[in-house]
Amino acid sequence: MSRFTARTTPVGVLFVCLGNICRSPLAEGVFRHQVEKAGLSAHFRIDSAGTGAWHMGQEPDLRMRQTALRHGISLDGQKARQVSEGDLKTFDHILVMDKDNLHDVLFHDHDGQYGHKVRLLREFDTDPGDFQVPDPYYGGEQGFEGVFQIVSRSTHVLLHRLIAEYELDGAR
Ligand code: 4NP
Repeated sequence: MSRFTARTTPVGVLFVCLGNICRSPLAEGVFRHQVEKAGLSAHFRIDSAGTGAWHMGQEPDLRMRQTALRHGISLDGQKARQVSEGDLKTFDHILVMDKDNLHDVLFHDHDGQYGHKVRLLREFDTDPGDFQVPDPYYGGEQGFEGVFQIVSRSTHVLLHRLIAEYELDGAR
């Protein structure tokens, strides 16, 4: 029998970038879409946050929303927020987009208890490059499509690792 059979709470997955208006909202939307397609929505709590506070309350960047929509994924309803110490306590897996994010998230880990939860998302990429999701904010359209490809490859592998780790069964 699975050691996770008795788990009654959903697996918490939080995606983190700098502004929470481009990369992490996309990762949230893509991962949610992949989880829904797998019939596993009831098993997950999915969210995103930024290490910076500049864009709090804003919806995702229009260029990121349009890129996602071209792939059939809506980022509607998302609002930027800042990551907190509470996130480290309550989420099981925190996936960050780059090494600055990693440093800034771990700044909230005052007692050094939660480092094991925090990973670079591109550790799950089949073509990981420098293990960072590039920040598309100041670049052109191509950068947003590139981010989509990186994020969707990585979250696909992440989902299958979590399905195996928690021995999850879809509703299909
Ligand atoms: P994100 O992109 O971290 O992927 O949401 C950025 C959004 C805004 C800024 C930087 C990165 N900014 O400097 O305002």
